[in-house]
Amino acid sequence: MTIPVIGQPLSRVDGRQKVTGTATYAAEFDVPGQAHAAIVRSTIASGRISNIDTAAAEHLPGIIAVLTYRNAPKLAYREHKGAVDPNIGERLHVLQDDQVNHQGQPVALVIAETLEQAVAAAQILNITYAPINGVTDVNHTEPVQPTREKTDQGEERPSDVRRGDPEAALSAAEIKTDQTYVIPREQHNPMEMHATIAAWEGDRLTLWDKTQWVNNTADEIAAVFGIPAGNIRVISPFVGGAFGSSLRTWPHVTLAALGARVARRPIKLMLSRREMFYSVGYRPHTIQRVALGASRDGRLNAILHDGTQETSTYEEYSEALLNASRFLYSCPNVQTRHRLARMNVNTPTFMRAPGEASGVFALESAMDELAVALRMDPVELRLRNEPERDEFKNLPFSSRSTQQCYRLAAECFGWSRRNPEPRSMRDGRWLIGLGMATATYPMNYAPASAMARLLPDGSAEVASAASDMGPGTWTSMTQVAAETLGLPIERVRFTLGDTRLPKAPVHGGSLTMASVGSAVQAACRKARDEALARGGVNDLVQAIHRIGEPVEAFADVTPGEEGQRFSMHSFGAVFAEVSVDPDLGETRVRRLLGAYGAGRIINPKLTRSQSIGGMIGGIGMALMEHAVVDPRNGRVPNANLAEYAVPVHSDSPVLDAIFVEEHDPHVNPLGVKGVGEIAMVGVAPAITNAIYHATGKRIRELPVTPDKLL
Ligand code: MOS
Repeated sequence: MTIPVIGQPLSRVDGRQKVTGTATYAAEFDVPGQAHAAIVRSTIASGRISNIDTAAAEHLPGIIAVLTYRNAPKLAYREHKGAVDPNIGERLHVLQDDQVNHQGQPVALVIAETLEQAVAAAQILNITYAPINGVTDVNHTEPVQPTREKTDQGEERPSDVRRGDPEAALSAAEIKTDQTYVIPREQHNPMEMHATIAAWEGDRLTLWDKTQWVNNTADEIAAVFGIPAGNIRVISPFVGGAFGSSLRTWPHVTLAALGARVARRPIKLMLSRREMFYSVGYRPHTIQRVALGASRDGRLNAILHDGTQETSTYEEYSEALLNASRFLYSCPNVQTRHRLARMNVNTPTFMRAPGEASGVFALESAMDELAVALRMDPVELRLRNEPERDEFKNLPFSSRSTQQCYRLAAECFGWSRRNPEPRSMRDGRWLIGLGMATATYPMNYAPASAMARLLPDGSAEVASAASDMGPGTWTSMTQVAAETLGLPIERVRFTLGDTRLPKAPVHGGSLTMASVGSAVQAACRKARDEALARGGVNDLVQAIHRIGEPVEAFADVTPGEEGQRFSMHSFGAVFAEVSVDPDLGETRVRRLLGAYGAGRIINPKLTRSQSIGGMIGGIGMALMEHAVVDPRNGRVPNANLAEYAVPVHSDSPVLDAIFVEEHDPHVNPLGVKGVGEIAMVGVAPAITNAIYHATGKRIRELPVTPDKLL
């Protein structure tokens, strides 16, 4: 009877608000009486503050307070580790002592009537330091084994993994490749800057914050201030991109709340673009060695993948750099070893497809090098090493559509027209290259809850404290609710982004649709069943009209045992066509096509949009992005969007993301695997593999800037 709403390419329900500027972002929630704050940051990477002279700044007009470690209240800093925080180490404490751990660490907070007054005063603080030699050069570190095994979604991620005898298999291999791949630090750079407005009423705090997890922001700030989380309300209805930079609750949120407490006024604190490079994490610099050994017929017999990533001195951020190498291909002899380079830097964090994007770049570059050594088509090489099951976990895949993805993408892309010889294809003076790579990202499903309220007028309100940093959560959840309730989409209002709503998990790891979506579905089913039972009729609108009062239901969903029975991942294939100017070394991506098996697709329009966004991010990774770190002092000289290049419209190729039919009953009630991260995976190696095909030059250090091709 009802028209299916799930699977329809609906436009965003919040689209009008966004394009007319009525969607309110964190910094736009101005509250009466608010003052403004500016952070003063250290200019050394390591040492102590020997003196801070605040007198001149305090005498400027409009200054309300200048907080430093000398006069700032001591904070509770109770133990709290959300799923987004590193297992090992302790978060940065702000304005609590004279220690400096990294370049750009907050050392003072200036509070003033206006932003201009705060910024002006921040610039004239006279601070002297007693620096000590820190480690700020990633090439001069002694990488160490992670302290303890990390977990991914409750699952162990050992730092070292071994099966078979990889060294012996490598040395005995008929064909081999053994190379090092380097990815520099990358910065998220969302359009919306991080911002917090903090307002206290007695011991109750309201935070309007840019966050991917309102519940964790409340928990973290509660722990920092030593107050109950129930005293804190976090509001975050819109997030203008984040890519992982708003997963954790960073020190600026603490500073906003601290400033508001001291000033006894609401405080607005917004980071500048430059500050973002020192305060909300980044994708860590990685150095990876991948050695592959294969028989002459292209069967892998050895995979050795070692990876080192940077982290701070005070926290062990460790990402899933090597996970994919353990199961992506069939191979009896595998070794992965993860190491950390501890440096005097601010802690890195998850950035879109954290770990996988970097690790798969190395693995898929190596696979292309192996295909060249074997004189074998790169798609054929991958098909020959397709595993029957996850050989690391020794479990069947819940679903795996790699072969369909390779074939479909290859066909749509016109792969058969590729002449395998490097430098053999041209368009005028441009060298043309075609390359491909595999993509994968785990299916993540976390406990979530939702509420559905049916109103006597036949409409419904549905809610969960989820976030929407851009993928379209507002819309996709409305679709799930409308379909489950059997109501037209216009009769359903979904709300998110407020700790007053039922708890949601972190908006990250590609898990929102699977988790919150399943909770929304469960809550709507419950409300519908109850209304039909109470109303005593088969039609929901009639039933609720008869009941004459709202019918409300709450539901929680929790992952079951599926993870012990299945290995659950999205898979895909990415194909790229590049042109390279042989004289200038400039690379243009001409075409990009991703084919994915990601379970059920709730909204194909939004899914495609999210996916091509991730693929454009992959172009940045391949060709442009590089947060340069001055090895002498940890400074990032290009901490701005003029010198930290990201792809813009004119860099965007003809691109598309297509989805193969996949029905996976095992992953979660909705059958969704998630697409947010996988769209970033495999793009950079597809591009660098295409560059090799175009030029005959293998670039193993990103980004591939023109100088590397000359
Ligand atoms: Mo994503 S890096 O989990 O926001």
